[in-house]
Amino acid sequence: MRKIGIIGMGNVGAAVAHQLIASQMVDDLALYDINEAKVNADALDFQDALANLENHVNITVNDWSQLRDAQIIISTLGKISLTMESKSDRFAELRYTRKALGDITANIRNSGFNGVLVVVSNPVDVITALYQELTGLPTSHVLGTGTLLDSARMQRIVGEQLGVDPRSVSGYNLGEHGNSQFTAWSTVGVLNQPITELAKKNGWDLEHFAQLAREGGFAVASGKHYTNYGVAAAACRIVSCVFQDSHTVLPVSHYREDYGVYLSYPAIVGRDGIVATTELALTAEEKAKMESSAEFIKERVAGSRD
Ligand code: 2OP
Repeated sequence: MRKIGIIGMGNVGAAVAHQLIASQMVDDLALYDINEAKVNADALDFQDALANLENHVNITVNDWSQLRDAQIIISTLGKISLTMESKSDRFAELRYTRKALGDITANIRNSGFNGVLVVVSNPVDVITALYQELTGLPTSHVLGTGTLLDSARMQRIVGEQLGVDPRSVSGYNLGEHGNSQFTAWSTVGVLNQPITELAKKNGWDLEHFAQLAREGGFAVASGKHYTNYGVAAAACRIVSCVFQDSHTVLPVSHYREDYGVYLSYPAIVGRDGIVATTELALTAEEKAKMESSAEFIKERVAGSRD
């Protein structure tokens, strides 16, 4: 049985749960939220969908013992505070989420959970590091959605220029899922053509594209005060790589020995989470950006420990 726990049933948790159910990716769902009325209502609403869906899903609410035999936990708790006006970063949520982690990670530990923990909660690189420390799970079993979402935004922006599906654009945003991230243009291309050459030919300003990708979350939040579908798709992509043990290369937040911190870089994702990390042939400038993004995250992780 494919069993998943989702911690946090806000806009993101509900979108993740919905995609998992509607895409027939899960058999057992264990939902958790401190707002009992909301999580019970969502569970009931999903159960009301079952008679008209192709598949059955068993749903439980706030029962931590369910995690014992879950293969995956997805953490989506948080209190979003992104605004386009202030370009406020994701660290405004840190205090709230940090505080909640004590009880949550104790519950995860006590349940005997031994699967893969996928973190969406922001600031995702820091929260992923804290989850790993507090649960004691192996670093390879704890990963964050990271710049999988920012890469998708970059792929959308480049794809729009060329009139192609974002999936036809290759390449990565790297580093922090936050303001210190960057688009590694040396990795980006379409139809075997480097983006740098396409940009020259078409007069594109790649720095502007990078800014649009980096600020994509603010653009969505300025219209509806939160973001959810983009990141839900990123989380579900990771889920399918774990269940299928697909060894897919994804830019997710994972622990890198060389940087000594959780940050996004392409890694190979399979049943055991991070199966292996990779090495890109980055330019000297991109390597320097990785270093400075890593330093930034490292300081923030150190500052968020008790
Ligand atoms: C996003 O970028 C808020 O981190 C979330 O959509």
